[in-house]
Amino acid sequence: AQAPVMIQGPMPIEAEYFASLLSGVRTEQAGNVTFYIGKLKGFPVVVAQTGKGLENTSAATAVGIERYRPQAIINQGTSGGHDPALEVGDIVLGKRSVNASNFKTPFRKAGTGSAPLEWLPMDLLASEGSAGEGDSAKDAERIRYYMGNEALLHAAHAVKEQYTRGKVVEGTIASGNFWNNELDRIAWLHAQFGTSTEEMETAAAAQIAHSYSVPFLGIRVLSNNLTNGGHYDPSTAKDCQQFVRLVIEQYISSL
Ligand code: 5AD
Repeated sequence: AQAPVMIQGPMPIEAEYFASLLSGVRTEQAGNVTFYIGKLKGFPVVVAQTGKGLENTSAATAVGIERYRPQAIINQGTSGGHDPALEVGDIVLGKRSVNASNFKTPFRKAGTGSAPLEWLPMDLLASEGSAGEGDSAKDAERIRYYMGNEALLHAAHAVKEQYTRGKVVEGTIASGNFWNNELDRIAWLHAQFGTSTEEMETAAAAQIAHSYSVPFLGIRVLSNNLTNGGHYDPSTAKDCQQFVRLVIEQYISSL
């Protein structure tokens, strides 16, 4: 049998529309994850409603890979812009993703407070030794990016003119269990990490997909952008799934 492609979305509004596109669907549950197993244009597809955040997403990705052996994974959903040039409704193709919540804090004496804009990046994959102390600690003071798969990016570019809600651009998706509303912090992440948009899942899925050598791409619509006054619009979640449908159909037609 052909290996399926897997589409991940955190919340019901980010997964149920895609699940409704499948024929012959059955569901399986694993912890917080619901898998919808079916077909799109005769091709096997698994939609995973992962739940929100890094932990749910990591678990959903590992269990999903072990159970269904997907040939490719797309993590998609909503996000909050870090780049004032991006509008609500625009889509970021994750050329790169990064966990922007992995930090080492430089030493400060008691009573001198906390200075989050001085925190150092921390790469937990840099070595098998301690990230905080010892010989390997300095090596860990770097940013770990996960690169989006070229074939999936290619498929996305091939259909981007068909997306009419906004523009489709390549960028860097930043993930963490955070929702930042401090404009100086957003600007700092944009400058230090090159972030285009933030959310809570893509880098976790990317890390696990890479560890299994499964081709991976994050595709995120902006549902909000504090940097240019773009108000939250949950209807973007469906627009994103409609675009991802085009990407998947393009990808499977190229196989
Ligand atoms: N910051 C963090 N997460 C966001 N999400 C949408 N916008 C943002 C934002 N500005 C997504 C996350 C999570 C849910 C809360 O919405 O990925 O799944």
